[in-house]
Amino acid sequence: MLISSSMLASDFSKLSDEIIRMDISGADWIHLDVMDGHFVPNLTFGPPVIAAMRPFTDKPFDVHLMIDEPLRYAPEFLKAGADLVTFHAESSSDPDKTIELILSGGAKPAMAVKPGTPARAVFPYLDRLFMVLVMTVEPGFGGQKFMPDMMEKVKELKRAKPDLLVQVDGGINSETVAEAARAGVDVCVAGTGIFKAPDAAQAIRELKAAAGA
Ligand code: DX5
Ligand code: ZN
Repeated sequence: MLISSSMLASDFSKLSDEIIRMDISGADWIHLDVMDGHFVPNLTFGPPVIAAMRPFTDKPFDVHLMIDEPLRYAPEFLKAGADLVTFHAESSSDPDKTIELILSGGAKPAMAVKPGTPARAVFPYLDRLFMVLVMTVEPGFGGQKFMPDMMEKVKELKRAKPDLLVQVDGGINSETVAEAARAGVDVCVAGTGIFKAPDAAQAIRELKAAAGA
């Protein structure tokens, strides 16, 4: 199981220290939640903040765009150093064009589905997607409760394309990570579960152990 540390739960007054802390604590990827106040009822940070964090780790930047127009803004996130760019199936951008743009910028494209969106929404694009993110909470805020019903979507996606990476995001702790692992999840995003733990390295080790790898 790969663990992508969600910086949304970090101390924003010390972003460089927090990135370094995740790097040495064994996070596999750094998850960056971008919110525009339209697609979700919350605002976070954009390309300049991501570019400012980029020099502090070599770990992949896993950028989760919770924005209305990913096609319009993706070039700036690519320039800021995104390795993976995840955009939502429910956004207003054309998925084919958005995938093309991400690929042409040398990054890996992924699509996300909110809890109310069926897995089949991303089926037409699976051959070009590196990953699908199945949201296990309503996007917008950290610290919410994991929705176990979403594991059906994970299984459906793994059946449709066994080598596709499936990520889940929201409410991951040592119990829910095991449930995700059983369903076939490859990458778990965790914010609160890592940053609010007394020892981040131990929290990441425990998540991986609970997932069985
Ligand atoms: C929610 C974000 C998540 C969030 C997860 O919209 O996409 O990445 O940080 O937070 P936890 O792990 O606290 O549920
Ligand atoms: Zn996220």
